[in-house]
Amino acid sequence: MRRPLLLFWLSMPANCADSPGWKKKLKQIKVEAFTIGVHFMKVPEAVKSAYMAALKYRRVAFATCSKDGVPNTVPLGVGRFLDDETLIVIDNYFMKTRKNIEENPRAAVSFWVSEEKEGKVITKEGYQMKGTVTVQESGPLYDQMKAEIKAIRADFPVKAIVLMKVEEIYDVKAGPDAGKRIA
Ligand SMILES: Cc1cc2nc3c(=O)[nH]c(=O)nc-3n(C[C@H](O)[C@H](O)[C@H](O)COP(=O)(O)O)c2cc1C
Repeated sequence: MRRPLLLFWLSMPANCADSPGWKKKLKQIKVEAFTIGVHFMKVPEAVKSAYMAALKYRRVAFATCSKDGVPNTVPLGVGRFLDDETLIVIDNYFMKTRKNIEENPRAAVSFWVSEEKEGKVITKEGYQMKGTVTVQESGPLYDQMKAEIKAIRADFPVKAIVLMKVEEIYDVKAGPDAGKRIA
């Protein structure tokens, strides 16, 4: 996870060594970049598969929070992982969710995979992911996702895509491991 550090490094002005306090600033940038770098993680394949299985049956809840601390949860039905660390959520009808993201770019998503056996609903697995979110309303990735979503549901507006960099993953399946951090 060295990319953020490299980006910060490249953005340093060439004459930074001449400016007063540059060493302190550089140290701070390094610490911030390292902090960002270590937060991101590789989401295990099993968790990614569980997400897609849960999404198929609309067993995904996406939570945001206003700057004043008012929580909000909405069901999700479309989206996918972009890569091993980034979840793409599709903003078709977000209202409070979108406002919250703009004023507080943190989100959590809980999802679970269940099946019915002998009249009982058994949850096979369930996870919670937390992370930082950014919004894209244009650009190549937005265009690609819009085309993908429109191919499934032409009536979905795809107002924006929300990219969630996963920073923490917890097990939420009822049992001894419920609530334990797994990554
Ligand atoms: C099963 C289900 C799946 C949904 N999936 C999405 C989705 O993927 N994207 C979206 O923008 N809205 C989706 N919605 C609508 C939102 O959950 C919600 O109604 C909308 O974000 C407005 O709520 P808010 O003001 O709390 O954001 C879905 C609704 C249901 C019932």
